[in-house]
Amino acid sequence: MSRQEEFFKHITEGNTNKGEYITLGSAMLDGTTVKNAFVNVPLKTMNRHGLIAGATGTGKTKTLQVLAENLSEKGVPVLLMDIKGDLSGLAQPSPGHPKIDERHEAIGLPFNPKAFPVEILTLSEQNGVRLRATISEFGPVLISRILDVTETQAGIISVIFKYCDDNKLPLLDLKDFKKILQYATSDGKKEFEKAYGRISTASTGAILRKIVEIEQQGGELFFGEKSFEVDDLLRIDENGRGYINIIRLTDIQDKPKLFSTFMLSLLAEIYSTFPEQGDSGRPELIMFIDEAHLIFNEASKALLNQIESIVKLIRSKGVGLYFVTQNPTDVPEAVLSQLGLKVQHALRAFTAKDRKAIKLTAQNYPDTAYYDTADVLTSLGTGEALVSALNEKGRPTPLAATMMRAPMSRMDILTDTELRNLLSDSDLVKKYNEEIDRESAYEMLNKKIEQAEAEAAKEKARKEKEALKKAESKRKNGSTRKSTRMNPIVKVLTSATFIRSVFGILTKVMK
Ligand SMILES: Nc1ncnc2c1ncn2[C@@H]1O[C@H](COP(=O)(O)OP(=O)(O)OP(=O)(O)O)[C@@H](O)[C@H]1O
Ligand SMILES: [Mg+2]
Repeated sequence: MSRQEEFFKHITEGNTNKGEYITLGSAMLDGTTVKNAFVNVPLKTMNRHGLIAGATGTGKTKTLQVLAENLSEKGVPVLLMDIKGDLSGLAQPSPGHPKIDERHEAIGLPFNPKAFPVEILTLSEQNGVRLRATISEFGPVLISRILDVTETQAGIISVIFKYCDDNKLPLLDLKDFKKILQYATSDGKKEFEKAYGRISTASTGAILRKIVEIEQQGGELFFGEKSFEVDDLLRIDENGRGYINIIRLTDIQDKPKLFSTFMLSLLAEIYSTFPEQGDSGRPELIMFIDEAHLIFNEASKALLNQIESIVKLIRSKGVGLYFVTQNPTDVPEAVLSQLGLKVQHALRAFTAKDRKAIKLTAQNYPDTAYYDTADVLTSLGTGEALVSALNEKGRPTPLAATMMRAPMSRMDILTDTELRNLLSDSDLVKKYNEEIDRESAYEMLNKKIEQAEAEAAKEKARKEKEALKKAESKRKNGSTRKSTRMNPIVKVLTSATFIRSVFGILTKVMK
């Protein structure tokens, strides 16, 4: 058997699966694509997370696009964090290109341009399905984490939540949360003191300042109703293809707090609502985070810890997280060590530091008789990558320099008209984009304060009248009468449902 034949056998045997799988491309030997030596990833191990890395312009985002398309075709829904805004083209078919035909001819795969079912979501005022969550849903633990408060302040936040729970005050948005914090040290001071002990103005002041920080990053757009149901990320279209949900995060780079908040709430919500998967043989949802270094660089320590522990836990829910970044060293070690699929595009060796990083990267790949991994890493062309996946038994597949297939959808973004048409057809836009400001803590506390003031004014008037009468009768016959007791503050009640889904779970997740 020639070396070429041996290699073909090595790759095809190592990429044979009993269950469903997706094909990324064909293996290359000595810089040449070997036709039909397909590099496959079994669906079964796609919940084991992954990394797509490589220098700028080497094909990371297209690899992400290829993965998303092929998952969708297999009926697996996908969630993309689109930080550069270059993924919306998934909703339109590729116009094709002679270079693409050439590529697919070499691989041995037909090229079929097609569009995919896409939903565009947003955290801000950009066009798209609005993603929101209420303060109540977050619960005191997560809110404290997000605000990065001290232990004493976290204690106060717990008391505030307890009070709102006891008094059925819905905490929907930041306005509600600020109002109740102010109330606890002003009009509601006595009431709070009696039930929970004294709350210091210095502490609530510090919490309020942290809230302002979140507000400045656009938090008031995120907190509120209608809260997004994560099940809506799991939709399948009428042809059995999974929806590709694209979250446009182009304006998030200068808003790390908002993004952390969103990521934490999303992961926590997924963790608390998705059922345990067992060994279903296919993932429920695959999430990709493009330009992940931006997130890891900006992330608070709390978020990093959170990502680390959730990466471990979320696997059992059938959810795979894929990080796309320039250098593998951008991803924290604890996360890196848990990744099943690695797609490493070319790395550039400009400096001594680069060469060291390449050596380190090469060491993270399985041994192979066919490649000098460090050499291959620097000589890969655009749209080529070293791939190492996990087979159905959970063992690494043969390391393969791979000619990646081309995206079936457009590699360019949607035009404004295309985007508008997509959104106007969206059921989720209809479901989520109406602004709701139902009666919540803010309005209810205001009412309560007004009522108490009115009550006090009435009481004062009544007392004055009584005193006048008393003085009158005293003057007349010298007798006294017992004064009536003051009415208790009217208890505010509401039929509004009070949700607190993630609290219990989060205390577990957060150790
Ligand atoms: N699989 C592929 N099939 C065909 N062309 C590809 C493929 N991958 C990459 N290319 C070509 O290379 C270009 C750059 O790819 P891509 O945008 O994915 O790079 P990137 O690594 O994400 O870059 P950046 O770091 O700047 O985000 C694409 O516009 C496309 O022309
Ligand atoms: Mg990119």
